Amino acid sequence: MENKKVGIIGVGNVGSTLAYSLASKGICSSIVLKDIRENIVQAMALDISQAANSESSHTKVSAAKSGEDLKDCEVIVITAGIPRKPGMSRDDLLLTNAKIMTSVLEDIKKYAPNSKLIIVSNPLDAMVYTAIKSTGFPREQVIGMAGILDSARMAHFVYEKLGYGAGQIECSVMGGHGDDMVPLPNYSTVAGVNLSTLLSSDDIEDIVTKTKNGGLQIVKLLETGSAYYAPAHSTSLMVESILHNKKKIYPCSVMLDGEYGYENVVGGVPVMLGSNGVEKIMELKLDATQKDLFKNSINSVKELINTLDEKFFV
Ligand code: NAI
Ligand code: 2OP
Repeated sequence: MENKKVGIIGVGNVGSTLAYSLASKGICSSIVLKDIRENIVQAMALDISQAANSESSHTKVSAAKSGEDLKDCEVIVITAGIPRKPGMSRDDLLLTNAKIMTSVLEDIKKYAPNSKLIIVSNPLDAMVYTAIKSTGFPREQVIGMAGILDSARMAHFVYEKLGYGAGQIECSVMGGHGDDMVPLPNYSTVAGVNLSTLLSSDDIEDIVTKTKNGGLQIVKLLETGSAYYAPAHSTSLMVESILHNKKKIYPCSVMLDGEYGYENVVGGVPVMLGSNGVEKIMELKLDATQKDLFKNSINSVKELINTLDEKFFV
């Protein structure tokens, strides 16, 4: 494989699962892992390398000794931060994770200024804003992972109701990655058949509610952290689309610049991902109710951004 290097900053549950998934699938030629827990990250690098060794497209996995090791990364995923704990909203994480985010971005600005950034740390949309604001990178280069995960959760709940269609269920969720995210049943299908022809409106309403609570349901059960298998899998799809210029369309969190009538705010919308990062933003036709729900969700993100502008970027 040609030289395709991926950086992962923050090698906890999501970061290490992502590294394992990328290495096992041979999506990249090398992965560099960076975390403040230096011994742990070295252990992860060895362990994942040994797991990937039998793959024909053997991915080299190493622990960064310094920020300089991020040089030549095409994609860098940032999961550094503290995860959400029970009783803690995503928003409670805001200022702590903004501080962590800006500290890790220093190395990226210095050593990998052309890399495409996939942000995972929460609160997601506000962290995308933090990354753009503190690097000055163009919006095409900084993309948040959330809508793809929320859509995967919705597809799971659709499958639970139907009991068929696995692998053929495509769901769409827009808005911020918060309790007021906007699942879009009318843009969700099973092998091209719209949900409304397969399920009752009560069932669809139930799926919408479960999707919104999908992350929280896992947080409550885990007690000491949040979901990581589905988040890592969703992130790996984004990495692959950028690294191999697949131009896939996924709901991602991006800075809006007039799309859907919003600007200077980050939100989840369908995005085409290719080697330039965000290559296109799709504008779906929303009905009046969906427009209101999207507005509500964007307003929640705006509140966080205002807090960042007032308390962090001063
Ligand atoms: P985790 O606690 O297992 O891992 C976080 C890692 O970040 C730890 O290894 C920690 O040492 C590291 N870290 C902290 N400060 C750092 C720094 N300055 N430089 C480098 N590494 C640093 O947490 P987990 O479960 O992996 O989640 C990571 C983040 O992703 C959290 O903010 C969580 O809320 C978020 N998340 C977001 C999702 C989304 O849909 N956007 C889905 C799942 C998690
Ligand atoms: C999730 O949705 C915690 O944001 C994370 O699982």
